[in-house]
Amino acid sequence: MGRVAELAGVSVRTLHHYDEIGLVRPSARTAAGYRAYAPGDVERLREVLAYRRLGFGLREIAELVGDPSADTAAHLRRLRGLLLERRDRADAMVAAIDRELTARARGLKVTPEEQLGMLGPRLYDAIGGAYTATRRTEPRIAAQIWDALGDAQQVLNVGAGTGSYEPADRDVTAVEPSAVMRGQRPAGAAPCVAAAAESLPFEDRSFDVAMAVSTVHHWGDPMAGLREMRRVARRVVVLTFDTDEPGWQDRFWLTRDYLPEFADVLAGFPSLAGMADAIGARVDPVPVPWDCADGLFEAYWRRPGAYLEAHVRRATSVWTRVGPEAEQRAVRSLDDDLGSGRWDERNSDLADLDAADLGLRLLVA
Ligand SMILES: C[S@@+](CC[C@H](N)C(=O)[O-])C[C@H]1O[C@@H](n2cnc3c(N)ncnc32)[C@H](O)[C@@H]1O
Repeated sequence: MGRVAELAGVSVRTLHHYDEIGLVRPSARTAAGYRAYAPGDVERLREVLAYRRLGFGLREIAELVGDPSADTAAHLRRLRGLLLERRDRADAMVAAIDRELTARARGLKVTPEEQLGMLGPRLYDAIGGAYTATRRTEPRIAAQIWDALGDAQQVLNVGAGTGSYEPADRDVTAVEPSAVMRGQRPAGAAPCVAAAAESLPFEDRSFDVAMAVSTVHHWGDPMAGLREMRRVARRVVVLTFDTDEPGWQDRFWLTRDYLPEFADVLAGFPSLAGMADAIGARVDPVPVPWDCADGLFEAYWRRPGAYLEAHVRRATSVWTRVGPEAEQRAVRSLDDDLGSGRWDERNSDLADLDAADLGLRLLVA
């Protein structure tokens, strides 16, 4: 016991306590008849101590390590995810604190918005670093968007991010307010202007088409941004999300069964009909292929295990917006249901589908 305590960096008293409460019991015997830790006990102790270090309470840990459906690899994956999540959050907060310290050192006034910024707004400066892990062009969605651009040559891409859906064969100008996202645009990408959709620094009708992909829900004033797109371009193409249909939260099992908080994230988001009206657009459904290459929130509808991966979650803002409690609860519950076969039972109808309509819509005006 003393040797194990030394290796693990805990006191023998702690090990005795875990033994007494039945959390980790040394189940082997030494030649001299003393109780000793068998290899399985050491694995369990390692899990207990790692969860402890992450701040879990002993009762919660007992539940976690007592789960018969989770083997050592499952625990390691879970621990890894929890640690990466912490690291991402810590990185984002350190960056925000550095920004504020620099501002204060220069004698600049720090507004309440800036102080609270590290907790939500300017989110893409915070999550931008994790974005490129899974976010890239999905060729089938790109084909639908590029088709909608028609014969346009001068293209404005608003909320461009790293430029996943910018057509290579046209003359593109990008607009992106987040410095972190601008910094991650690949070498040779279209020129990018630091600006926001709500106030585009261009003359009326400067472009053949203005496009916006998976970004409108991030804008402070989506309607103002759409009107700006309409003002600066002849044609407007927007990939967005339909919250008009009653029960839209139930379209996707992830929001229906695990993350109902998604609805709060989109509360106040304009209706699809309202957005279409604002720019005079027709509405086309955009199915998500089962093997979608772009790690959108909906991308893994037929690959549920992906949502257990922290790097997958960190590349979409929804998970950061719902907050760590909802996120951890959803992930734990999905993990349980995947282990017990409940997810498969509930979603057996998805196995044969090649693409799903999960509410993505293309507005074409
Ligand atoms: C999910 S990313 C999409 C990026 C890219 N369009 C794509 O499909 O890969 C959303 C982007 O919207 C940007 N964004 C946030 N607020 C914005 C605003 N008010 N105007 C324009 N872009 C904004 C974010 O910085 C982020 O890069």
